Amino acid sequence: MLTRSVVLIGLTGSGKTTAGRRLAKQLDCAFVDTDGVVSDATGLSVREIFEQRGESAFRLYETQALKLILADVTPKVVAVAGGAVMAQENRDVIRDSKSYVVWLDAEPLTLLKRVSVGSHRPLLDDDPSATLVAMSIERNNLYADIADMRVDTNRRNLKQVVKQVVKVVLEEASEQGAP
Ligand code: S3P
Repeated sequence: MLTRSVVLIGLTGSGKTTAGRRLAKQLDCAFVDTDGVVSDATGLSVREIFEQRGESAFRLYETQALKLILADVTPKVVAVAGGAVMAQENRDVIRDSKSYVVWLDAEPLTLLKRVSVGSHRPLLDDDPSATLVAMSIERNNLYADIADMRVDTNRRNLKQVVKQVVKVVLEEASEQGAP
């Protein structure tokens, strides 16, 4: 069915993991997320890596995970953690993979309602509201740059988001002559 992988990008709390899992189920393919691969590879949670080895070490593991995931060309759904787009190298890896890149866009206020503090998001520990605003200013242009499709998730629930992405991805696959 799928002719290429679907890569979900967007700020922390935009729903990449939850939407990604459902998307993979509906598209009958595997789901992988970069944070999960980093944790499996290190045996540490994202929070533990930040605390014990620092953010710069985390960013290195993140790049390695992204490369590993996208080197495997089997079509799948990939959730890319929110900060990965900051590195040009990662943006190049995503673009070069020829995946279908979907940006789950949401305003900081929407994100604030969705994120759980104390989870795998140590960057939101201090002032989640201000941090999310800063992240969107810093990162939204980068998401826009590499996205094939932008989904406004502010006024859509998860079911609607997944439905919209499935429709577009399947249309695209059938245009390319997938069975
Ligand atoms: C981060 C996002 C998190 C996680 C880490 C850093 C970021 O992943 O990788 O806390 O810099 O935005 P999600 O985007 O899955 O929340």
